Amino acid sequence: MNAAFLRQPRASALLSLIGNTPLAPLRFEPEGVTIHAKCEFLNPSGSVKDRLARHVLLDAEARGLLRPDSTIVECTSGNTGIALAMVGAAMGCRVTILMSSGASEERRRLIRRLGAELILFESAGRYQTGIEMSREMAARDPRIFLPRQFENPLNVEDHEHGTGLEILRQTGGRVDAFVSGFGTGGTLAGCGKAIKAACPQARIIAMEPAEQALLAGECPCCHFIEGVADGFIPPLLRGAPLDGEVKVRSADAMAMARRLHREFGLLVGTSSGANIVAALEVSRQLGPAATVVTLLCDRAERYFSTALFEQVPAASSENPCPSASIRG
Ligand SMILES: Cc1ncc(COP(=O)(O)O)c(C=O)c1O
Repeated sequence: MNAAFLRQPRASALLSLIGNTPLAPLRFEPEGVTIHAKCEFLNPSGSVKDRLARHVLLDAEARGLLRPDSTIVECTSGNTGIALAMVGAAMGCRVTILMSSGASEERRRLIRRLGAELILFESAGRYQTGIEMSREMAARDPRIFLPRQFENPLNVEDHEHGTGLEILRQTGGRVDAFVSGFGTGGTLAGCGKAIKAACPQARIIAMEPAEQALLAGECPCCHFIEGVADGFIPPLLRGAPLDGEVKVRSADAMAMARRLHREFGLLVGTSSGANIVAALEVSRQLGPAATVVTLLCDRAERYFSTALFEQVPAASSENPCPSASIRG
């Protein structure tokens, strides 16, 4: 295998499927507004994280950091692990994923099926444990490559030049607000930068779980919006052009995700529901003519074993009754 293994047909065919996702105009009634939803769940492994995997690995390969004998090691709440395992499978590269023991069974199975090794750690909500483990592993073995999604500026850069520019192209360069949750902060910071540069009046709004509104200065607490808000403000969010945040309760995020399943036929996860609740609140403030863009981050199948698929009383499932509150 030569050094340019990501450009070999098998890997490059897979990489060509990543990104350029559709922007779907979703009409909400009785709210009477349209939210423009970037369908990131249509990426090949089913989440927005495919973009990060492609960009960081291509860069590492070009700089000689990723070689055929390398092992990619990353700590993740799941979606990044699945994305890295997918690309690793196509390029024939070893992948080891460190994940909290609280991560859903679906994520674990997908990572293992893609041929990656999975190491589970007891987290008690502390992501730092896994990050430290990955650093220790890299210090012991020079063949280990760390994508470092929480601190790698390529994470922001990819969304700035990829997702953000796609949104501008798809909206004809007219965006009044961009709303997104954050895990590493890459999506929010990168898209925010691109959109702010082209539309300086656009409002860049962070979605935060109401139970853990750190940007709003509140204390970390347990929430059920998987994939976002890992208990700290990520370093990549520093310098992001944020204009405010919207707090969304986990229960409302789930109710909205279920509404997206049933009313729109969109099989997406809890954070997608949360993003839509926040986007509707922003749209309510800016008026129905505003172009409000958000992300549908991943697929519903990833949540079969979670509260999202638990039986809920018909009345509460049909009326999500969003509780969003906005600051900024
Ligand atoms: C499931 C999921 N994955 C990823 C992201 C984006 O994460 P990041 O901030 O790491 O770019 C989100 C953001 O809403 C999300 O809900």
